[in-house]
Amino acid sequence: MTDQREMTVEPMRRRHLGAVREIDTKVYPRPWSLALYLQELNRPETRIYSIVRDEKVIVGYGGLMVVGTDGHVTSVATDPEYAGRGVATRALLSICRGAALKDCTALTLEVRSSNAGAQRLYARFGFAEAGVRKNYYTDVGEDAVIMWAHRTDEAEFLGDLREIEAALSGPTRWLDQ
Ligand SMILES: CC(C)(COP(=O)(O)OP(=O)(O)OC[C@H]1O[C@@H](n2cnc3c(N)ncnc32)[C@H](O)[C@@H]1OP(=O)(O)O)[C@@H](O)C(=O)NCCC(=O)NCCS
Repeated sequence: MTDQREMTVEPMRRRHLGAVREIDTKVYPRPWSLALYLQELNRPETRIYSIVRDEKVIVGYGGLMVVGTDGHVTSVATDPEYAGRGVATRALLSICRGAALKDCTALTLEVRSSNAGAQRLYARFGFAEAGVRKNYYTDVGEDAVIMWAHRTDEAEFLGDLREIEAALSGPTRWLDQ
């Protein structure tokens, strides 16, 4: 079964940006520019960007910005053809663990209020709703739900990540650290 295929997780590099931006055009109304990605990748001390591959095909990615001891999830996206196969879960596992290695003690993100699927994914990782930013997405006047996960550097959270990984139906090769 395709779900049993091994996926590889590794740091995002410039050579990945063509495929990453192709995914963005499929899932985001306003994809990031190449310049913005290059800026992010040029700040490795405060950024973590990981891609997920099925063999050579890039099928998703996640990103995080470190601000003090907070990690701010900037983006998580999966090629719609690979939805529901644990791609975003692997990307989030990678950036959550990377954040702990950069001494983040909490993680936060904004997600569209209509995006129930993403909110479920984040809730599984221990993110809880902490408020709403009205009209945050000015393109359609949609609210953002603000979510936080706390104590993300502690053994309990890191143990939960191991359980999430164990529940994935296929194996993962981690080249992200
Ligand atoms: C939200 C998004 C990132 C989820 O990506 P995904 O790769 O499909 O997510 P996963 O497969 O890891 O998990 C999604 C679901 O699949 C299930 N799943 C995970 N691994 C699975 C597997 N191997 N087989 C079957 N189902 C699986 C999960 O339980 C989860 O179920 P749930 O919806 O009931 O929580 C994706 O839909 C997307 O790119 N959306 C557009 C961009 C976006 O909204 N990003 C988030 C806001 S920044």
